[in-house]
Amino acid sequence: MKEKADTIFHAAKKAFLEAENSKSLYDAKVLYMGKKGEFSLILKELKNLPAEEKPKWGQKLNEIRKRLETLYLQRKQELEEQELSSQVEKDILDLSLPPPEHPSGSLHPITKVIDEIIHIFTPLGWSVQTGPLVESDWYNFTALNIPPFHPSRDLQDTFYVEEDFVLRTHTSPVQIRALQSFSPPLAVLAPGPVFRHDSDISHSPMFHQIEGLLVDKHVSFADLKGTLSFFLKKLFGPVEMRFRPSFFPFTEPSAEYDISCLFCKKRGCPVCKKSGWIEVGGCGLVHPNVFSSAGLKGNWEGFAFGLGLERLAMLLYNIPNIRLLFENDLRFLRQFENL
Ligand code: DAH
Repeated sequence: MKEKADTIFHAAKKAFLEAENSKSLYDAKVLYMGKKGEFSLILKELKNLPAEEKPKWGQKLNEIRKRLETLYLQRKQELEEQELSSQVEKDILDLSLPPPEHPSGSLHPITKVIDEIIHIFTPLGWSVQTGPLVESDWYNFTALNIPPFHPSRDLQDTFYVEEDFVLRTHTSPVQIRALQSFSPPLAVLAPGPVFRHDSDISHSPMFHQIEGLLVDKHVSFADLKGTLSFFLKKLFGPVEMRFRPSFFPFTEPSAEYDISCLFCKKRGCPVCKKSGWIEVGGCGLVHPNVFSSAGLKGNWEGFAFGLGLERLAMLLYNIPNIRLLFENDLRFLRQFENL
């Protein structure tokens, strides 16, 4: 018995000390001290000993087991420390290495134009409003003095969602929403997408407009002209501006406004179609019917204007085709990163 126990003790001790990693140490522990391990086997032999010898051998074997357990735990700790420090060496943090690249996105040219316009108007006290993209027929047309069967409904190739709901064809319905939400004096800008059944080199079925509405006492066409000319000069630099009489149901009088061609300085070129002028948008003094649709009482006056943003971005950034703005081709979009 003694010999057997000694042999197992020495063999186990050797195996523990020679184990090269936690895994082989654990395997050695199972081999010698596990339930079916060699040590358990001689414990079983205890019962074959004469009764008077049992306590002595029981105690002895117990001592051996305890010593082996201590040896095992010591070696386990040693190996774990070694493994940890070699792992730390491997994972060493080199603070002098350049950081991994995290490519960042950039703003879309249309977003940039919207931001620029907002930056021009906010110091003048204007705020920004939005409205739903699916509008009721009433907000998109009727409230803006475009009653059912009015011929100007045909000019805007409307997408109908349901009989009385459309994808808004312009940002002008936000005028009504602003008048319903705030009491004048007010000055709001409303940028956002609009939709028309129209598609060619300079038209897309979804495009963006920005709407402006100012309501106060004693607002004249001169205020409109002054505001637009301030805005256009801030945006385009030193340009000339002109008004042409026009018609919109929601303004009276109405006008369209142009800037002198940025490319040829009015000498005439393909961009301005040899006219020397570039059309920017529509504007006018708010029609009294618009005020009454929105439930506004009192002798208020106001001006409004609207403009298409794709055209503006194409002019500002020299973009030849409107499609480029919607294809999300990163090679195109990256050119605007640092503008
Ligand atoms: N809503 C018009 C359009 O889409 C543009 C416009 C014209 C807006 C005159 C206005 C305005 O606010 O006064 O064609």
